[in-house]
Amino acid sequence: MSENTLPAPFSLIRLDSVGSTNDEARRLALSGAAADLLVVTAREQSAGRGRRGRTWVSPPGNLHCSTLIRIDGNLATAAQLGFVAAVALVDAFRALVPGIPFTCKWPNDVLAEGRKCSGMLLEPVDKDWLVLGIGVDVAEAPPPGNLVYPACALADLGFAGTESDVLTAFCAAFGPLVECWRRLGFAPIREAWVARARGLGDPVVVRLEGETISGIFAGLDDEGALLLDQGPQGHRRILAGDVYFPAV
Ligand code: BTN
Repeated sequence: MSENTLPAPFSLIRLDSVGSTNDEARRLALSGAAADLLVVTAREQSAGRGRRGRTWVSPPGNLHCSTLIRIDGNLATAAQLGFVAAVALVDAFRALVPGIPFTCKWPNDVLAEGRKCSGMLLEPVDKDWLVLGIGVDVAEAPPPGNLVYPACALADLGFAGTESDVLTAFCAAFGPLVECWRRLGFAPIREAWVARARGLGDPVVVRLEGETISGIFAGLDDEGALLLDQGPQGHRRILAGDVYFPAV
């Protein structure tokens, strides 16, 4: 175990170079070495994964971490942890880089001034563990080439700290929120996420597998689905997709 610089009850394993921290965390869980809120970080990833099969560019100086969270076998409920983490990231970023309007974008991204600075990949391991993988562009945003969404790094916004400062601030915010979620369920998390969401009530375009639809971003339902108001066609619940805010 690396020297633990994280607030209780988190513990830390710090690695140098790995394929993906999500795979390392998964290995620990399968070998029986997992602990609730054990965080695995790596200086760099050679095979960082994003949502929907994308690559996550993972150079040194950015934060790549995967947290093992004990769950109760209900994977739909466990997915709510992505919203818990997004709220914690927004609060951590707002404290670290004052004056920047950090917001949540469905499902689990964090935006800075409308550009993505953090993403999440949630992967269950059996029915007992969730791996919550988080990537934060601290020092460097990925090159614009293949991005599906404009990106920026915290350093571009004036942040002069390290990825380890970001992880500590995230854990300080995430710990109490996980506790709140375990005691009270999704309702207070949903309210906190909606209060930090970008573009509530605004037009959005949603790219689904094989279909692109548009409507008004009407909120989040009590299971974490995005609610899209399609006018006379009614509301549609979106469970997976990429959300874009068209330029007005
Ligand atoms: C996304 O926005 O597409 C999700 C990006 C998730 C990246 C993180 S970095 C740490 C963890 N390990 C991975 O391979 N992916 C996640």
